[in-house]
Amino acid sequence: MMDSLLLGIDVGTTGTKVLLTSTRGEVLAEAVNEYPLSTPRPQWAEQDPEDWWQATVRGIVQVLELVPDSEKAVACVGLTGQMHGMVLLDSKGVPRRPAILWNDQRTGQECEDLTQRIGAPRVLELTGNPILPGFTAPKVEWVRRHEPEALEGASKILLPKDYVRYRLTGEFHSDVADASGTSLFNVGERCWSGEMLDAFGIPMNWMPEVHESAEVCCSTVAVPGCSLPAGIPVVAGAGDQAAQGVGAGIVEEGHISATFGTSGVVFAASDSYRADNLGRLHTFCHAVPNKWHMMGVVLSAGGSLRWFRDALCRDEVLEASSSGVDPYELMVAGAAEIAAGSEGLVFLPYLTGERTPHPDPDARGAFVGLTLRHERRHMVRAVMEGITFAMRDSLELMRELGVSPSEVRASGGGAESSYWRQMMADIFHCSITTSAVPQGAAHGAVLLAAVGAGAFPDVEDACSNLSWTRPLQPNADLASAYDASYGRYRQLYPALSADFRAAGR
Ligand code: XUL
Repeated sequence: MMDSLLLGIDVGTTGTKVLLTSTRGEVLAEAVNEYPLSTPRPQWAEQDPEDWWQATVRGIVQVLELVPDSEKAVACVGLTGQMHGMVLLDSKGVPRRPAILWNDQRTGQECEDLTQRIGAPRVLELTGNPILPGFTAPKVEWVRRHEPEALEGASKILLPKDYVRYRLTGEFHSDVADASGTSLFNVGERCWSGEMLDAFGIPMNWMPEVHESAEVCCSTVAVPGCSLPAGIPVVAGAGDQAAQGVGAGIVEEGHISATFGTSGVVFAASDSYRADNLGRLHTFCHAVPNKWHMMGVVLSAGGSLRWFRDALCRDEVLEASSSGVDPYELMVAGAAEIAAGSEGLVFLPYLTGERTPHPDPDARGAFVGLTLRHERRHMVRAVMEGITFAMRDSLELMRELGVSPSEVRASGGGAESSYWRQMMADIFHCSITTSAVPQGAAHGAVLLAAVGAGAFPDVEDACSNLSWTRPLQPNADLASAYDASYGRYRQLYPALSADFRAAGR
């Protein structure tokens, strides 16, 4: 009889990743199935929840096929996914409209109005964070104002991974980490806030039951077309950033990670609840009981490089597809031929507005300082530098709040390049390591399932065996060249924000 196994499901923005692992978290099989993102208007971002579900079922079938007889051995399932997205269901569990995602910026007006109605200090006191356009509750208010018919007959509001859970188990549950990003959750007390729900006119029974992340809260039902049996326990799981924190072992005070995915996130674990009283960094519950985390979020990190690849690197993409190389490798190799600072070219990565440190839905991307000397290689380099400068902004806020790491654990697609990791070390003035298991949030979901299955007594213990690459140290000369560009980068948002606002309205 086969040893017990675990399934981890990450409902991401570009696709769903499914992992099949041992109960210690060793990866045996992995499947990624992509889906589209629709932008019906500039700065809007929507997805069809049915696409998440179909990609999840396909992924489960694929990993179970890769490991013969595994379906009978799955002991627990862990879920994670993109945070903040709003899925509005009717009483039969059917979505009333497409999901509005974390990087959608349509709710600036709703955020301003609700903050004024409740009072900014009270919002911070109740939820630990300001009401921001990416968060869930203002999207409900937007639907109320602009599509009132979609709200008629609504009976549940779910986050993306919790919609997938509903299809997998028939039940409505969430976890404290993901719930923290809704503007409806009392992050200090780890429960829904009646006062915030009332202010948004949302009945309490529209919200799923909330649990700590490693708690088993439901079990699978039989799914047509999928050999996963009914009755397998499912843990609450976590929003992708807290799960990423678990996967990267960021579970003790002072640990810091930097994740370069579609978004870029600087994440610090914290043993106590400490909201930034200016609301610049997010304060959310961690996927570890009685712990919290602070984070700064750059909305278009890897998303900026992907945009540049798709919009302006057709040659690299063609060359890569004929030679079987990743186009990003060719882009980074070209950028590496250019000196630090991109010969005076600076890129602002605010392609989908920004959150940290400029919570501004109207912020736009920009190249500043172009001359006749600049070519595509400079632009790729400036994009990489601009993304890393944006992440440094969050790190500087953490330093201001007294968290000063000597080492940062990097993860996500950007961290796969050792060239970019060295750039992070130089720009952050920190040594950089990366995990031996690169599956990020999906791996975190598996570790939470491992605790749920009883393979470890708690989440900290599940993280204690993770291993890391040798740290890359900052290079003093390059660090000072980057400091000069970073100084210019910092001045550009204040100088351009009025223009961004004019362009956006
Ligand atoms: C975190 C956030 C993003 C999404 C992306 O607050 O908005 O990182 O979770 O998946």
